[in-house]
Amino acid sequence: MHASSPPAKHSPWPAGDLTRVPYWVYSDAATHAREQDAIYLGPVWNYLCLEAEIPKAGDFKTTWVGEMPVVVCRDESGQLRAFENRCAHRGSLLCLKNRGNASEFTCVYHGWRHDMRGNLTGVAFRRGVNGEGGMPADFDLAAQGPRQLRTTTLCGLVFGTLCADTPAIEAFIGEEILARLQRVLHKPLRVYGEYTQVMPNNWKLYYENVKDTYHSSILHAFFGTFKVSRLSQGGGVIVHESGAHHVSYSLAHQGGPDHAFEQEALRSNQEQQLRLEDTSVLHIVDEFGDQCTVQILTIFPGFVLQSIYNSIAVRQILPRGVDQTHLVWTLIGFADDDEAMQTLRMKHANLVGPAGYVSMEDGAVGGFVQRGIATAASESSVMLMGGREAKSSASRASEASIRGFWKAWRQAMGI
Ligand code: FES
Ligand SMILES: [Fe+2]
Repeated sequence: MHASSPPAKHSPWPAGDLTRVPYWVYSDAATHAREQDAIYLGPVWNYLCLEAEIPKAGDFKTTWVGEMPVVVCRDESGQLRAFENRCAHRGSLLCLKNRGNASEFTCVYHGWRHDMRGNLTGVAFRRGVNGEGGMPADFDLAAQGPRQLRTTTLCGLVFGTLCADTPAIEAFIGEEILARLQRVLHKPLRVYGEYTQVMPNNWKLYYENVKDTYHSSILHAFFGTFKVSRLSQGGGVIVHESGAHHVSYSLAHQGGPDHAFEQEALRSNQEQQLRLEDTSVLHIVDEFGDQCTVQILTIFPGFVLQSIYNSIAVRQILPRGVDQTHLVWTLIGFADDDEAMQTLRMKHANLVGPAGYVSMEDGAVGGFVQRGIATAASESSVMLMGGREAKSSASRASEASIRGFWKAWRQAMGI
């Protein structure tokens, strides 16, 4: 298949048009396979983990870059290292634990040893046994090994890249996104916990969802009904010029009538039917002092920073085959959180998380799309809300940041 062609018999993609997305992109196996090289191994920074998860020398965590398994660790000198989680010998996963502390990594299969950078340092029975067998005398330990990533840190986040051309992370995300990242991650972090949400849909459907400012007060009954986030509230969306990264934010509801929202027939406007026994879940501390109560930030191709009320979390979007996605949530706060803030963060995390009132809907709706388009590879979606461009806007009744995602995806894929 030529890089710029759709799969045979599938609809073409009009040049320069970001308002239609042909449905084959969510189900075509060849496209999925090519994304692994063209996107994840390309000039991007892939989110790996938080510095706070591996604070000491020897601490490690296993993670992924797309579908590539990766070990990220802090070496004996305190430097962050990352390498493919693949033994230099015959390719077994090298590290089988989710996290831990080690001075080296020894493969369970034949005992080949690797240092904290992923370099091969030892081969079991290299000289053979009783003068027989073993490796050839000219075998060079340094000549093979798992691929090593370049790492960088920003605001306590650790990113990795396999591409020599990836610019510095600050230049990659640009000033506006950087300022919005620093707004939240402005002091030492603390990790509260982690869980993985399994989604029955292609990863791009989730990335669209998280960039979809149009849906949040419509799909999410809790957001609309209890005025956590409505399209009628103040806010906006910032789209990076490449389209790749974005921030959306909403300001606190000012009270009073809300005609623009209430005149629509929405399932998310159920003030007469839905009541809260305990309204403390709606209590919020304005910890950044700017009346901005919800902010969602993405860094292409797989990072999300959420601050919804006082729930702060990073989400890592990981493809798992063409029609499944893992979303790894890490709930965080700050090292100096007092007990009241810890309680509040947990309460808001339960409101937002996949077993709460909001994100279970995002977990379901991607599957609804995947099922809805089962035989529609030659049809297309419509993304015309807010115009045809992929630019920043004061309105969130817009699909601008989703169009931005497709602009960046098409650029990376050469489509
Ligand atoms: S595959 Fe790792 S030692 Fe053989
Ligand atoms: Fe949502």
